[in-house]
Amino acid sequence: MKNHDIVEKNIGWMIFFTIIAISFGALVEIVPQFFTKANYTPLPGQKPLTAIELEGRDIYIREGCHVCHTQMVRPLRAEVERYGHYSMAQESVYEHPFLWGSKRTGPDLARVGGRYSDEWQRAHLYNPRSVVPESIMPAYPWLFDNVVTGNYTARKMEALRLVGVPYTDEDIANAAEPFKGGKVKEIDALVAYLQQLGTLVTQKR
Ligand code: HEC
Repeated sequence: MKNHDIVEKNIGWMIFFTIIAISFGALVEIVPQFFTKANYTPLPGQKPLTAIELEGRDIYIREGCHVCHTQMVRPLRAEVERYGHYSMAQESVYEHPFLWGSKRTGPDLARVGGRYSDEWQRAHLYNPRSVVPESIMPAYPWLFDNVVTGNYTARKMEALRLVGVPYTDEDIANAAEPFKGGKVKEIDALVAYLQQLGTLVTQKR
């Protein structure tokens, strides 16, 4: 009783013991996840992004799409009904860095692949108001002019391979191939990236 009085009347000790108590929660909830094989075993048919999709992902990061859009459907009924199957850990095994996000100014995009046509995606990115009149999303018209050179695609793949993404020597040798002749615009790469998001898990909304 006396000892407990000390903790209750001294904010320093209170903070110290609160942190210890919370740490146990983390130990019990987080640590076992590291040892659950299903969490880091790729799903059947799961492949690393193609050269074009990989460049699209980097454009997504550069333009800050992840600042307004999460890629993480939580296992809650409202979310699953709106977006489709909840996100699974395996789906992110090749993601470095992952783009789960935490701020939803716009809808979650974890399962947006295939939900709209390429034409819709292009029109929406050129001017969101042309297809969703009340939209507050910014327009990205420059993506239609900028060409993807592919100069660094091979090096990006090599870097990802270092952290466990299974790109083959052949993938890396041919990385710049699709960009030859300057025919891939940034919009093409970004739409290719968006259209594959979440498509491995088929149960849609
Ligand atoms: C300022 C916040 C903001 C940013 C930045 C932003 N968006 Fe959006 N986005 C929204 C909002 C709000 C909506 C919902 C209205 C609409 O459909 O336009 C939306 C909708 C979307 C949709 C349709 C989703 C659905 O399920 O209907 C896609 C796809 C999308 N955004 C992609 C992108 C991409 C790609 C980028 C980066 C190039 C981006 N967004 C950047 C706010 C944002």
